[in-house]
Amino acid sequence: SQARIGLIGLGVMGANLSLNIAEKGFPVAVFNRTGSVTDDFVASAGELRDKLVPAKTYEDLVAALTTPRAVIIMVQAGGPVDAVIDALTPLLDEGDMIIDAGNADFHDSRRREAALRAKGLNFIGMGVSGGEEGARHGPSIMVGGNPASYETIRDIIEAISAKHDGDPCAAHFGPDGAGHFVKTVHNGIEYADMQMIAEIYGLLRDGAHKAPAEIGALFECWDKGPLKSYLVEISAKVLQAIDPGTGKPMVDVIVDRAGQKGTGRWTAIEALTLGQSPSTIEAAVAARSWSSAKDARLAGADIFGSEPVSGLTLPTEPDFESALLVAKLVAYDQGFKLLKAASDHYDWGLDLARAAEVWREGCIIRSALLDDMASAIRSGLPQEQLIFSADFVALVKNGLPALRRVVGYASASGLPVPALSNALAYFDTMRQARGTTDLIQAQRDFFGAHGFERTDGGAGHHGPWGSGAL
Ligand code: 6PG
Repeated sequence: SQARIGLIGLGVMGANLSLNIAEKGFPVAVFNRTGSVTDDFVASAGELRDKLVPAKTYEDLVAALTTPRAVIIMVQAGGPVDAVIDALTPLLDEGDMIIDAGNADFHDSRRREAALRAKGLNFIGMGVSGGEEGARHGPSIMVGGNPASYETIRDIIEAISAKHDGDPCAAHFGPDGAGHFVKTVHNGIEYADMQMIAEIYGLLRDGAHKAPAEIGALFECWDKGPLKSYLVEISAKVLQAIDPGTGKPMVDVIVDRAGQKGTGRWTAIEALTLGQSPSTIEAAVAARSWSSAKDARLAGADIFGSEPVSGLTLPTEPDFESALLVAKLVAYDQGFKLLKAASDHYDWGLDLARAAEVWREGCIIRSALLDDMASAIRSGLPQEQLIFSADFVALVKNGLPALRRVVGYASASGLPVPALSNALAYFDTMRQARGTTDLIQAQRDFFGAHGFERTDGGAGHHGPWGSGAL
């Protein structure tokens, strides 16, 4: 039998995505490097088995597809994707399409798109978010590549995607690496959001001395309000879970060393390259890196003590909730600014509001706030700042005193809140009509004659350093 689409790589994400495609009524040809994995997968697919066409070789896979062919690759990002592309390319005909659905570095997607285009093949870089559950029942999908080739598989992609009031959480964002870049920034925001939630947890644990289950119950309440989101929801569940082996709270037996596969770091690196600095995302990446220095932290605790020092008055629970909300908005502000900067630089014409819409369901950062963000962006952001939007000014003004109390309390208590404090520093910088870089400019001119602009006009001026005026 013939399938309209093929999928290579039956790991957790690939297997679930295949079942999702099959369930939506599209026959899908499936291939895994280890043939027994393919057999086992098809054998355990139950009633969806009829829609799966197992292939044992790349040749079988290609032969199982209707033309023009479309093959999704869902293998580990990096070298393995290139290896599959290299194996597949000689078997494909002009007009066929390869879709990389992994967490690719968008620079790789740009390179692969150009290389395949030169051979008459189409390449789609497709960011997929939502983990295992999302892949199976409806992920959020961010597509980049030739729009005409995307059009030929759009019905399948939209069918398998999550829906927000019937609107598919799948969109084509621009050429080559645009989709993977949107996914990368999604992950950067994911890092910031996770970090901020973890920082609030830390203050409630080490400052307010609450048990994980109590914090979880509080998060459960927050998940019914403006903070309603997947990450708050799962944090509430995680904090209330018990380790079956020891009977202790699950989080208490998990080593405090966070891993990262790279997307958060890529967001920060690309941002810096583009002259941006999404400080909340950078802080979240830093916090994970610092966490991995466990031995150094233990040594630091020995030398300086790790107990919270006596701090200011503990903020209230509503303070913590409002602080998290405002800081989260700053993280998105920075994320959208980065998307805009990349869109301008690479000439992608990214629809930022559409990104917010596609993130409303299915993905890891889905939240109630995203619908409001989408409409705020649609109506135009003053100075490209989400936090300046008329839709959010009241929320920011209301929540800021709480963010100040929380960050102030944390620093007075010696409890680290890198992402929350960076959100506040960014906000305060962006409302400062006169900053302090006048001095930086003077310093640069003093030691390097770099020149400066004068407030009363003109560039390229120099100070009286070294002359009689000093
Ligand atoms: C998603 C997730 C998913 C994965 C990331 C993050 O959107 O479904 O972002 O892609 O969890 O790879 O992983 P790290 O935290 O390991 O960087």
